[in-house]
Amino acid sequence: MLGKVNCIAILLLGLFTSGWGFLEHDSWITVELQHALSSTNPEQFSDRGNITIASLNSGQSNVVQDSLTKRELESIKVLAKRDDFYRVKATVVYPNGNKQQFLTSTKACSLLQAQFNDILWISLDANGFVTGITTSQDTVTKGADCGTSDVLQIQETSFNTDVIIRHSELAPVPDTGSFIQKFEREAKERGEVRDNRGFFAKYWMYIVPVVLLVLISGATNQDAAK
Ligand SMILES: *[C@@H]1O[C@H](CO)[C@@H](O)[C@H](O)[C@H]1NC(C)=O
Repeated sequence: MLGKVNCIAILLLGLFTSGWGFLEHDSWITVELQHALSSTNPEQFSDRGNITIASLNSGQSNVVQDSLTKRELESIKVLAKRDDFYRVKATVVYPNGNKQQFLTSTKACSLLQAQFNDILWISLDANGFVTGITTSQDTVTKGADCGTSDVLQIQETSFNTDVIIRHSELAPVPDTGSFIQKFEREAKERGEVRDNRGFFAKYWMYIVPVVLLVLISGATNQDAAK
């Protein structure tokens, strides 16, 4: 019995000394993008590309998008001529396989004016669930007429997408965030690098002896019982 208490004490001590405070929840998601280009069949969506966000905390993202075909470009120009919307369906896929869909739109004309440079805003709640996805263009010449031949002359066919992750504002809670930031800043100043390994990879040196001790004490208890 005493052996087990000791084990737990060793485990806790181990966790505290290696910085329990840095154990935080991070996750990844992928976002599949499809867009509606047909003005005659608005429900028809075709694949646009995929975005992988390897770490929601750091917001690192990898964007893979197919170039538009000539035909798709023409479809967008038709939408622009009719002053219609360009719509994007975004399907978020979580690590557990759950999916969540969002629809976002922008004027087809603005997309052409921005020459397919767009921004995808992904809003997250405090638990890392996506609460909204919106596309926008960064530089749009305000007031430029969509019917003008400039816009319809555009030959650009590849999207250039920036992904920006918006973390939700937290409700008032004890100010642990700035404490951790201060802690991390100080750690950085000391030249320590943030440890991003998994739980077991970080703490195996504490876990393995504990498991061994428990096994050994279990074995000796059984021997004693015999
Ligand atoms: C995006 O992901 C889907 C599903 O995993 C796949 O079928 C499709 O080929 C991918 N598209 C690109 C552009 O990689």
